[in-house]
Amino acid sequence: MTAQIIDGKQVAADMRAELKAEVAELAKKGIVPGLAVVLVGEDPASKSYVTAKERACEDMGIYSDDNRLAADTSQEELMALIEKLNKDPKINGILVQLPLPDGLNEAEVLLAIDPVKDVDGFHPVNVGKMVVGEKAFLPCTPHGILQLLMRSNVTIKGAEVVIVGRSNIVGKPLANMLIQKNPTGNATVTVCHTRTKDLSYHTKRADILIAAAGRPKTVTADMVKEGVVVIDVGVNRVEDATKKKGYRLVGDVDFEAVKEKASLITPVPGGVGPMTITMLLYNTVESAKRAAGIDEH
Ligand code: GUN
Repeated sequence: MTAQIIDGKQVAADMRAELKAEVAELAKKGIVPGLAVVLVGEDPASKSYVTAKERACEDMGIYSDDNRLAADTSQEELMALIEKLNKDPKINGILVQLPLPDGLNEAEVLLAIDPVKDVDGFHPVNVGKMVVGEKAFLPCTPHGILQLLMRSNVTIKGAEVVIVGRSNIVGKPLANMLIQKNPTGNATVTVCHTRTKDLSYHTKRADILIAAAGRPKTVTADMVKEGVVVIDVGVNRVEDATKKKGYRLVGDVDFEAVKEKASLITPVPGGVGPMTITMLLYNTVESAKRAAGIDEH
């Protein structure tokens, strides 16, 4: 079997067109959603993510407030900025790009963000609400993965889902979302990690396999069954002298080999990445609607 490619760019473009129309309607009522992006330090990957997020806001008609701070910014300075953004009525969403440089306390920063502006869904209040199945901002990457699965007509209910990776940003929230008793849940979920004894025993059982380990070729063709649906969350830079930048991006999955056994697979780039940004825009628009007292859900 050769897999059909799940085109994340196309799914993201469809969703962004729907959102753009909604933002235009809000603008007629004088409502402009605002997102503050906070980047501390010079990490090249983080810089490019943040730039992509800001460009996407501008394209959508969302106000974007760019806060780029030096790597030696103190905890106090960062906390003061969060406080200022919490109080700013133009700002509906606050995103602090992770990871923060060494020496800064990430947990304290995330806790300081007003949960009603936590469009990343990382505040413990939103994490808790998600776990108990209450309405909350859902973390962007797992939420984007659910959208990709649903919009590709993949059956989640009853599926054996294996997630490789247990990060707070992807693995843990995604596992929780997939076991919820709701239309995007009801899966049987296994979470594998660096201490898993026999990774391929688990991955071979998967109907849906999510690779979010942050390491190239974590999933190879011998580790999957025929017909599996593969979602590759990895974004790894590997040296490539033929490229102008000197590197290319690869996922966590050996794409060329695994696509010969899978039924559906996401590429890197052009799979999960565009969806993450789209769900951030979605959460920011939701937040602006709630702040204005418009809440259809
Ligand atoms: N770093 C990697 N992914 C993310 C994300 O979705 N949000 C933030 N804030 N930082 C990240």
